[in-house]
Amino acid sequence: MNILECTGNTPIVNIGKINKFCGTNVQVKLEKTNPAGSIKDRAAKYIIDYAEKNNLIKHGGTIIESSSGNFGISLAMIGAARGYKVIILVDPKATDVNVGLIKAYGAEVIVVDKKDDAGSYHKTRIQLANELARKIENSYRPDQCFNILSSIAHKETTAKEIFEQTQGEISGVVAAVSTGGQIGGIAEFFAEKSTKYLVTCVDAYGSSIFGGEPHSYKIPGVGLSWTPRNIRNVNNIDYVYRIRDEDSYISARILCRNEGILAGVSSGAVVLSALKLSQKIQNKKPLIAILGDSGERYLNTLFNDDWLKENDIPLESHMELLYKLLSSIDEPQARPNIVENYRDDLIYSLGVPETTMTHF
Ligand SMILES: Cc1ncc(COP(=O)(O)O)c(C=O)c1O
Repeated sequence: MNILECTGNTPIVNIGKINKFCGTNVQVKLEKTNPAGSIKDRAAKYIIDYAEKNNLIKHGGTIIESSSGNFGISLAMIGAARGYKVIILVDPKATDVNVGLIKAYGAEVIVVDKKDDAGSYHKTRIQLANELARKIENSYRPDQCFNILSSIAHKETTAKEIFEQTQGEISGVVAAVSTGGQIGGIAEFFAEKSTKYLVTCVDAYGSSIFGGEPHSYKIPGVGLSWTPRNIRNVNNIDYVYRIRDEDSYISARILCRNEGILAGVSSGAVVLSALKLSQKIQNKKPLIAILGDSGERYLNTLFNDDWLKENDIPLESHMELLYKLLSSIDEPQARPNIVENYRDDLIYSLGVPETTMTHF
């Protein structure tokens, strides 16, 4: 077996103490057990396998990607395992730990510090990555934002795996959304199975994936300033919760200190949304909450008391706080039939390469 064959087959575990306390029925899927430590290993492996099979990249070539962390780390790991040079474009918000991990696998990191029109770095990073890909021979852009293979990867692996692990005996799945790979693929899989499965996604205030104007926020790995192509049908999504930055951090710490599950900030938001939904629907069969990565990635932020104080985030992590957090969550958006923020014009304005767009 090689390292990439260890991708997937991640465990689903109960959060018994929290469930008892909140009167809920939620189980969590631990994506941190993937080889490079996050759910992004799945899409990265799937896309590189596809590129190899279709001669889009040849041995010794260069993988170029824009990523704030996890996808870049996954690609850096694959590059090391398969013999590719890897260049990752990050922005100043990328943590030292993530940059360190990308470099640990031998990849090159470029920090892009020019903001885009939404006040984030997403578009400028993508544009520069595309420019580099045009200049560097035998290079390949996986492009997690515009490549729908990302959601196909999750449809064929993550969603199918959840279904098989649970024999379909679940009420639904809750996952965070950014490039839409996870939620797009999972929503499509379960919509094809049965309307009885509730697929719920967790977005940030300030993201405009499901409408509205973008503004900045602090949850890493969640949200986008447009609707990603990986969500092909927004109507496959039953509910969208938005979780406040601060509450995602507090929730991740509660999970760690009360269940011994060390997960990242987006996982805090996902758990909170899943608990809220479970209280709302009083589900008999469990809701599966996908925890995208490990809290080890956030030792300098989420688990650093000084950083939390500087950012006005309370340090408490006792279970009783969940009552307060859950009672302040806004009602979810149901069946978000919002399509005005699909931005296929970005494919042209950001110069997305044709090799990324082979799956219309
Ligand atoms: C930890 C974590 N959770 C969730 C997401 C969102 O997943 P997706 O980009 O597939 O929508 C990301 C994306 O970077 C992530 O890193």
